[in-house]
Amino acid sequence: MTTTASEAGSVPVRQATRADLLEVFRIEQRSFPQPWPFAAFERFLGQPGFLVACEATPADGESVVGYVVADTVPNHGRPLGHVKDIAVHPDHREGGVGSLLLERALVEMARADASSVKLEVRESNDPAIDLYRAHGFEHRRTVPRYYDDGEAALIMVREFQ
Ligand SMILES: CC(C)(COP(=O)(O)OP(=O)(O)OC[C@H]1O[C@@H](n2cnc3c(N)ncnc32)[C@H](O)[C@@H]1OP(=O)(O)O)[C@@H](O)C(=O)NCCC(=O)NCCS
Repeated sequence: MTTTASEAGSVPVRQATRADLLEVFRIEQRSFPQPWPFAAFERFLGQPGFLVACEATPADGESVVGYVVADTVPNHGRPLGHVKDIAVHPDHREGGVGSLLLERALVEMARADASSVKLEVRESNDPAIDLYRAHGFEHRRTVPRYYDDGEAALIMVREFQ
């Protein structure tokens, strides 16, 4: 079953656990030409900004439909937030799940007292760029050949008050 915009508000979002990692990894592999290795997700277990969106399954279980990985790094004064990875299962896109995950990650960054949150995005990735703009991120600069295949990255930043 796909997720529609009206349903997304009821999709539970919670901190990722080890039991979620295989599903997260499978979505990663379907979403990116150069996916993170499984071990990269293991390193973020326990971080408040590693979140999964879930859908109930018929057998009283749940399956992961999307995830976000965000963290903060210490800085002089307040920490800086970084959205490192976000993806939604292809069957569940354009239903509001990505928006929900990003919003929850931003709440976690604000809770950690981040002054701003940055991310990198491929310059051709219009769905993601539109999502980030809709959440207050602004394009600050472009880094040529940022990705291994030669594509440039846009550096986008969302300032907190
Ligand atoms: C980017 C991604 C996470 C968005 O997830 P999603 O659940 O489809 O996004 P939502 O349904 O919450 O959409 C939120 C906003 O994103 C933008 N958006 C989403 N899909 C879009 C598309 N196909 N084209 C243009 N804008 C799009 C829109 O601004 C949308 O707001 P709207 O619904 O008011 O128009 C998803 O497309 C994805 O997993 N892509 C592959 C992985 C990826 O590229 N991640 C980003 C790495 S930087």
